[in-house]
Amino acid sequence: MGVDLEQILRPIDSPLAPYPPKFMTVASGETLVIRQVDRDEIPTLLLHVEPLLHVERDFYDVVAARVYAELLAHYRYRMQDEYVLVGQIGGHLAAIVNGRTVSPRQGMSLHTLALRRGLRIGAHCFAAKMEYHIDILGQDEVLIVAESPIGFRRWMIEYQLEKRFETPHELGGVPSYCLTRALFDRARSSLVVGRRPVPPELLAQAQAGILPPTDPPRPPADLLAATRAMYDSTGTALLLQRGRQELEAGHA
Ligand SMILES: CC(C)(COP(=O)(O)OP(=O)(O)OC[C@H]1O[C@@H](n2cnc3c(N)ncnc32)[C@H](O)[C@@H]1OP(=O)(O)O)[C@@H](O)C(=O)NCCC(=O)NCCS
Repeated sequence: MGVDLEQILRPIDSPLAPYPPKFMTVASGETLVIRQVDRDEIPTLLLHVEPLLHVERDFYDVVAARVYAELLAHYRYRMQDEYVLVGQIGGHLAAIVNGRTVSPRQGMSLHTLALRRGLRIGAHCFAAKMEYHIDILGQDEVLIVAESPIGFRRWMIEYQLEKRFETPHELGGVPSYCLTRALFDRARSSLVVGRRPVPPELLAQAQAGILPPTDPPRPPADLLAATRAMYDSTGTALLLQRGRQELEAGHA
């Protein structure tokens, strides 16, 4: 009985061509490898996404919460046709991107999370995700939204995405933007970089295990910094802290 119900609950993934890994040199001179991860690597990613739930800056909290749910659902077979790519430097996790296939012709971009800042690693991994949808899966378009101003600059403005406001995006039902094949072709020479094949020793290092990010975004270390968030509508750390204090005072 239990087994039968699991068969109903578990979506059947469409067979999707894998993403061929690539590598590139980033602004620091280090080498970034972008590759698709297997389902059994997801628990390791969850370990590194979880701390970002507490980073309000640049909407890491909202994006991390959603990425956590999407990765967990993928791991436990509760999400259909999802793929996950990672960016690694020296084996260390530098970015996570994911998305899914809606139909053979349409892709849905889910999230981009940079765990190493300031090197456009998020932008490179987003470009890899678009490359996957358009070039590898042969889709005509990808639906995209931004949850942060940096995301809006990186995707909507840099790629000059088209509005598809009549189509709600899976992320919160907000109006979608769209990357078409024509837009991707226009961006190809400037925004999409990387070489193939990845040298075997470099790929082996990346596949050997996902090492922790070297300098991930962290929540503010002091209360003064948290107080600044009071004037920010996203100041959830302060609100949570205040709630805890009020609760404690009530019990005193
Ligand atoms: C959006 C995102 C993926 C872009 O990643 P990225 O391309 O690697 O870019 P970064 O975030 O490192 O840098 C973006 C800007 O912030 C600045 N910046 C912020 N923090 C920085 C840091 N610690 N070091 C250096 N630069 C930093 C950079 O100067 C850069 O400016 P630029 O746009 O003029 O180049 C990343 O900011 C991120 O993960 N944000 C939180 C989640 C999110 O919003 N995801 C997208 C959802 S739509």
